[in-house]
Amino acid sequence: MAMDVLLGLQWGDEGKGKIVDVLTPQYDIIARFQGGPNAGHTLEFEGIKHVLHTIPSGIFHKGVKNVVGNGVVIDPVILKEEIDKLLEMGVDVNEQMLISKKAHLILPTHKLLDKASEIAKGKNKIGSTLKGIGPTYMDKTGRNGLRVGDVLEDNFSEKYAQLVEKHLNILKHHDLEYDLKALEKPFFEGIETLKKLTIIDSEHYLNNALKSGKNILAEGAQGTMLDIDFGTYPFVTSSNTTTAGTSTGLGIAPNKIEKIVGIFKAYCTRVGSGPFPTEEDNETGEQIRQLGHEFGATTGRERRCGWIDLPQLKYAIMINGVTELAMMKADVLDTFDTIKVCTHYMYKGEQIDYFPYSVNEGEIEPVYKKIKGWKTDLTKITDQKDLPQELLEYVAYLEKELETPISIVSVGPDRKQTIEMK
Ligand code: GDP
Ligand code: IMO
Ligand code: MG
Repeated sequence: MAMDVLLGLQWGDEGKGKIVDVLTPQYDIIARFQGGPNAGHTLEFEGIKHVLHTIPSGIFHKGVKNVVGNGVVIDPVILKEEIDKLLEMGVDVNEQMLISKKAHLILPTHKLLDKASEIAKGKNKIGSTLKGIGPTYMDKTGRNGLRVGDVLEDNFSEKYAQLVEKHLNILKHHDLEYDLKALEKPFFEGIETLKKLTIIDSEHYLNNALKSGKNILAEGAQGTMLDIDFGTYPFVTSSNTTTAGTSTGLGIAPNKIEKIVGIFKAYCTRVGSGPFPTEEDNETGEQIRQLGHEFGATTGRERRCGWIDLPQLKYAIMINGVTELAMMKADVLDTFDTIKVCTHYMYKGEQIDYFPYSVNEGEIEPVYKKIKGWKTDLTKITDQKDLPQELLEYVAYLEKELETPISIVSVGPDRKQTIEMK
């Protein structure tokens, strides 16, 4: 069978966790392919609200396997916390989750390095989640990293000590206070938990699963505009968040990929620093933030809010080869008289319809089309036929502009508040 992909088209937090959970019954395996605990994927159902960071969002469905692929970076401390919480809820994580031997480990010193780097950048800081993501991927590409498979080897302590020494030498040049011993205690407890999990050669497992007729859904973290190559560099994360990342992050060849679902909000948000052309740093942005509860699922930070951006979405659809779209949080716009859609930008005195190489403050001005709001409570609607005409027109307009069908419209955080579009 084939692998499908679901990934974010904006700057993350599009609602990937919710939709992966909704789609999971159609799959045998859900696999994370990149990122780490910088992700916060929220699931809501039967009165439960749960945020996942490392564990794939299919974990609440019995019988479905959840694979943490080689492209993911794992913090054993956070993973243990996630497992313990799920065990309390009666989810047998050990039975349902498999971890790649080749996934890299986030060490306590990676988190310290992340912090030191952000402090050193001063006002140019990335706004990292400080989970150690950047330094861990740097050690991976620098060929210094520690992988999950290493914890099963006799010389793990030596390898750990060697890498930590290297990190401490760098940290000497930074004015950062820390108590490494205190950080190492939960780290090594996490390592013990990790050792008891099912650690596998995930590339073989996944390819064998496909051969035997199983269906896989690859779950993205972050979003296309945070991709290390195609995002708003340097204000990005350190992995490939795009479709290409599924092949390197899982070991599944591109010709095995079938559907590519791109997910976006009916508006747009970003958390952390960096360009955001359609940002409404004003009352409108505040209104969207309050109505959409736009506060980070991982860090609790306020998310920056603004309007939907078509040049940005077209770029993301192109890079990912998106075959269908899921539009999230339509309900957040229920009370707006007018909704704005950015169709072009004014950039250095010219009208352009693509995302420029670099955007300095004040250099880019969005050109908007105004759309009539639907002024209807969408949150209880469960069928396409009951959707207001204005929303259907908004969907049809986006489908035409983006040249891609919208197959899901989401009208609330709960699993049930999901409308399948025919
Ligand atoms: P992810 O990182 O892409 O999984 O998204 P997050 O979980 O970080 O952020 C999405 C937030 O929006 C979460 O709080 C979800 O519960 C919530 N959410 C998802 N879909 C909808 C929706 O259609 N309407 C509303 N109002 N909230 C939603
Ligand atoms: P999910 O999977 C939104 C942002 C950070 C920062 C930049 C780099 O929940 O959509 P990092 O910690 O990776 O060094 O941070 O990327 N960022 C996210 N923003 N959602 C995420 O994940 C994010 N993961 C990282 O805010 O600007
Ligand atoms: Mg999130």
